[in-house]
Formats: sequence, C-alpha cells, structure tokens
Amino acid sequence: MREFTLKSARYIAADCLRRFLMPGDLAIDATMGNGHDTQRLCELVGESGHVFAFDIQEQAVEETKKRLLETGMLSRAHLFCCGHQHLAEKVNVPVHAVVFNLGWLPRGNKEITTRWETTEAAVRQALDLLLPEGICAICVYPGHEAGDYERQKLDEMLRKLRPQEFNVLRHTFINAGPGAPECYLIQKQPQKSQSVKE
Ligand SMILES: C[S@@+](CC[C@H](N)C(=O)[O-])C[C@H]1O[C@@H](n2cnc3c(N)ncnc32)[C@H](O)[C@@H]1O
Repeated sequence: MREFTLKSARYIAADCLRRFLMPGDLAIDATMGNGHDTQRLCELVGESGHVFAFDIQEQAVEETKKRLLETGMLSRAHLFCCGHQHLAEKVNVPVHAVVFNLGWLPRGNKEITTRWETTEAAVRQALDLLLPEGICAICVYPGHEAGDYERQKLDEMLRKLRPQEFNVLRHTFINAGPGAPECYLIQKQPQKSQSVKE
C-alpha cells in the first residue's frame, strides 16, 4: 500500500505551518478552541518563540491552559479570553503566522460560533500584522448556515487581495459536496529590496 494520500483542509493548514515556522518565530492562534493548534504552534516556535491565542469562551482558554501546562509550554503563550476582532489591540508586533480554525468549539455549544462580522475584522488585522513572507491559514466549515455565509464572504474578500501583496491558495475536496471543509492559505509577498542609488 502506498503511503501518500490526499489530505484534508485541516491537515494541509497544519502541514504548511509545520514546514514554514521556525524556532524563535511569533504566531497567533485566532481561535484557540481546545488548544490543539495553540499547542502545535508552541512546539514549532520553540522556547525562544511566542504564541498569542484568542477565544471568547473561558472554557476554551482553560482547556488550552491545561494542555500547555501538561506539555510544559505555558510560558511560550499569551492566552486572551477575548474576541479575535481585537487582535491588533492585543498584539502590537509583526508575526510570522496566523491560524484561524473557524466554527464552534468541538464538544461545546454550537450556538457559539465564529461570525463573519467579527471574522472579517480579525482577518484584515491578521493580514496587516503579517511579516513579509508570513502565512495566514484559515479553515472554514460551510456545512452549517453561519459557516456557509462565512466561507462565501471570506472567499469574496480574499479574491480581492492584490497579487502584488498576497498569494492566496484554496484547498478543498471539490467532489465532497457543498459542506466540505476548505482551507485558505495566504502568504504576504516578500519585501522588495530597495535599489541603492550611488
Ligand atoms: C473550531 S474551534 C477552534 C478549534 C481549535 N483551533 C483547536 O485546535 O481545538 C472555533 C473556536 O472559535 C471560537 N470563537 C468564536 N468566535 C470567536 C471570536 N470572535 N474570537 C475568537 N474566538 C472565537 C469558539 O469559541 C471556538 O472555540
């Protein structure tokens, strides 16, 4: 049996960050949830790096805190019980990567889900905070009404980004039906080197 199989949206986002991030980097988890992404980011940025993580639910912050304590990485992260629409108020340094895993908290209250109104503000702030070559990974789940709307609006917004500023990639199984998860990977263009005039 071959080892290679086509991978899900969520896997692609994680794999991209695993290849991209380096020890000492700064990263943001805009939707902390149960802390899986925050933990992975903490592992990737190492002891000399830092992760800023956001969620509006105390339950998510507590779960993530527990996870990081157990793995000895709590000192690598700032956990904010705060909406990601306030990202730029809390993080005032440029970062190498930002992760969004939209939707509701797994095993939590499905009424508390990300909403386009606040997601839009957060994604715009995240793109501003990215360093040149920095990456923003966004997983979106259109299998429910709010998620479908979020996906549609996100797609519209990302299509309008200037290619001189960002490259935008979308990954999904196109034959898996209309509710299939999608992953958007956005990379800021490298800074153009200034031509030095004698
Ligand atoms: C799909 S879960 C995230 C899963 C998480 N990344 C993990 O690894 O377990 C989405 C999370 O977004 C959170 N959320 C909803 N609205 C938010 C907002 N405005 N700002 C930050 N987090 C929000 C929810 O509370 C939920 O925990």
